[in-house]
Amino acid sequence: MTAPEPTNAQVRLRPEIAALPPYRQGRPAPANGFKLSSNENPWPPVPAVERAIAAAAAEVNRYPDATALVLREKLAERYGVTADEVLVGAGSVSLLAQFVLAAAAPGDEVVYSWRSFEAYPGLVTVAGARSVQVPNRADHGHDLEAMAAAVTDRTRVIIVCSPNNPTGVAVTRDEFERFMASVPADRLVLLDEAYAEFVRDEASVVGSDLIGRYPNLVVLRTFSKAYGLAGVRVGYAIGPVEILDAARATAIPLGVTAVATAGALAALESDAEAELLGRVDQLAHRRDDLRDALIAQGWAIPEAQGNFVWLPTGERTTEVAERLFDVGIVARAFPGDGIRVSVGEPESVDVLLTVLKELV
Ligand SMILES: Cc1ncc(COP(=O)(O)O)c(C=O)c1O
Repeated sequence: MTAPEPTNAQVRLRPEIAALPPYRQGRPAPANGFKLSSNENPWPPVPAVERAIAAAAAEVNRYPDATALVLREKLAERYGVTADEVLVGAGSVSLLAQFVLAAAAPGDEVVYSWRSFEAYPGLVTVAGARSVQVPNRADHGHDLEAMAAAVTDRTRVIIVCSPNNPTGVAVTRDEFERFMASVPADRLVLLDEAYAEFVRDEASVVGSDLIGRYPNLVVLRTFSKAYGLAGVRVGYAIGPVEILDAARATAIPLGVTAVATAGALAALESDAEAELLGRVDQLAHRRDDLRDALIAQGWAIPEAQGNFVWLPTGERTTEVAERLFDVGIVARAFPGDGIRVSVGEPESVDVLLTVLKELV
């Protein structure tokens, strides 16, 4: 039999996947500029974390422990749960994908607030499910009542992002408890708390306080932001064992590397953690000062509980983002909507305030 002639026919891909926008890596910062586009921690790792990562790097000829048991045990002890109630993933975005895949099939719905974390729509589409986006309130926070009202027979997952990326507004404990009471207990609620350590408003929901209270709640945390480990990819989920087991089944095996778990474990040691949380405190203060200064300039900045602030620039978004770039600041622009600026080095704040004053 002769081989078929090659043709120009296009490979058949799932059309909804082929239509997904490709991941947009933030533009690199210009020389002497500031990369404030990915909500990263501006500090390099503390020495103990760097040493642990280097030691783990010396053994990368070996596969990692598939279940990251030592890290799960450490986190379990901290949160007063069993190691089986903790799932570690290659960043919390991997975990989000795993939970959506575990619960939502083609034809099912996933409800979340919008605008929120850019990754949600793609993860839902990849699962074959349908996104139901509930507009944020006028104050840029989640409209949890409308989200609960958007739940249908087809809803399988509801994602609550607190503080919300990119707007910065946190959900309050009272709002969240009312929401949980109004959502059927057989629908999975993912509380995405990627920025939990930066929250200073005491009325905000704290997922770890709610563990064990709801059979359908999973709390997601990450080492990427407060712990400065975005580059090695490690995050975790806490929740009921059977939900975590289902999510484990959807993971690509061995995604969490030994380098990542070594970094995370070192970051949880008391001296390293105290230093890291001290940095978080500095960033939270810098964020509050930045927000106050921008409000004094006349900007309508929403409540900011993450390591970033939201500039609701609307139709002027592209123009303002270009002006920021001209002075060396790379921020994340959402054309037609607003600009998210991560809180970075102190010098970046001065540059920001100078340029934004002219653009109010
Ligand atoms: C709301 C939210 N969730 C999850 C993530 C994912 O973080 P990672 O995968 O680095 O843990 C991010 C990162 O930007 C985020 O903003």
